[in-house]
Amino acid sequence: MPNHVVVIGSINVDAILHIQRLPKPGETMEMDAFSQAAGGKGANQAVAAARSGAKTSFIGRVGDDANAAFMRGELVKNKIDTQYVATTSGEQTGQAYILLQASGQNSIIIQHGANFDLTPNDVQKAATLIQTADFVVAELETPVDATAKAFKIAKAAGKVTILNPAPAQKDLPLTLLKNVDLITPNETESELITGIPVTDEASMRASAAYYHELGIRGVIITLGSKGAFISLDGQATIVPAFKVKAVDTTAAGDTFIGALASVLQPDLKNIVEAATYASMASSFTVQKLGAFPSIPLGDDVKAALNEHK
Ligand code: ATP
Ligand code: RIB
Repeated sequence: MPNHVVVIGSINVDAILHIQRLPKPGETMEMDAFSQAAGGKGANQAVAAARSGAKTSFIGRVGDDANAAFMRGELVKNKIDTQYVATTSGEQTGQAYILLQASGQNSIIIQHGANFDLTPNDVQKAATLIQTADFVVAELETPVDATAKAFKIAKAAGKVTILNPAPAQKDLPLTLLKNVDLITPNETESELITGIPVTDEASMRASAAYYHELGIRGVIITLGSKGAFISLDGQATIVPAFKVKAVDTTAAGDTFIGALASVLQPDLKNIVEAATYASMASSFTVQKLGAFPSIPLGDDVKAALNEHK
């Protein structure tokens, strides 16, 4: 039986501005190209899980504009259950403006729109769905009180919760953290939460200890092209990234989390194997432009892993 993954999170249309470098203050410059793609951290994670074969459901909000119809269509096309994607009247669907430099680096400006209208009451309506999931996954592009409610329902039902604390946010409430089983920050996000710069393995272990002291069982700190650090039940490991030429890293982290949730066992015992799968999935994502368009299918990830053996 495939894992059932419930994602609570954001839905954005990404406007991608292809530029050579960031403009200086006061400077006017031309872009090389403009493109649009479906995205949003939550939606990307859901697509990554679904394309890797998980039964995937989404809890979120869109506005009542043309982007809402586009994004609902994209989620359905990816076999994601959208029963609990609600509409906010008179509001825009979330948008992200991605400044993509020729180096492959990106800077992102978010317009939250309807994503910020998600409430604990929306989550309560989806309680039965959450109670039947294997994993409940969330990030921080939707209100924290809604996520805290989802995790509370999930934990009461004995389900596994995964928090991707992105975009970086300080002082996350204990009401949320106490119900997190696995946390997956990148280096910057982790430093903001723990105050510990992630520079070497010792600092990764110290960061993991901070999360474990909060009662969080599993920690994965993603390290970009350096891979991912894992700490679980007293064991720490680094899963290396696969060597590829990155053209756009947008959604690398989201792909990692969605792909991970699709193959992880609820007891988390196969975390290293699952992170290796997730790392291969993300290595596909960084080689293509855009969020949804770059997220791979599970069969392609498995074939690449077999080839790599
Ligand atoms: P983003 O915000 O860009 O979606 P992130 O900062 O949340 O990403 P990263 O740590 O950059 O997450 O990347 C997540 C995973 O993706 C890494 O652990 C690694 O497996 C893979 N990855 C990222 N960048 C590269 C790269 N340049 N080459 C190969 N794999 C990569
Ligand atoms: O993590 C990548 C995502 O962040 C993009 O798709 C964009 O929508 C922003 O939310």
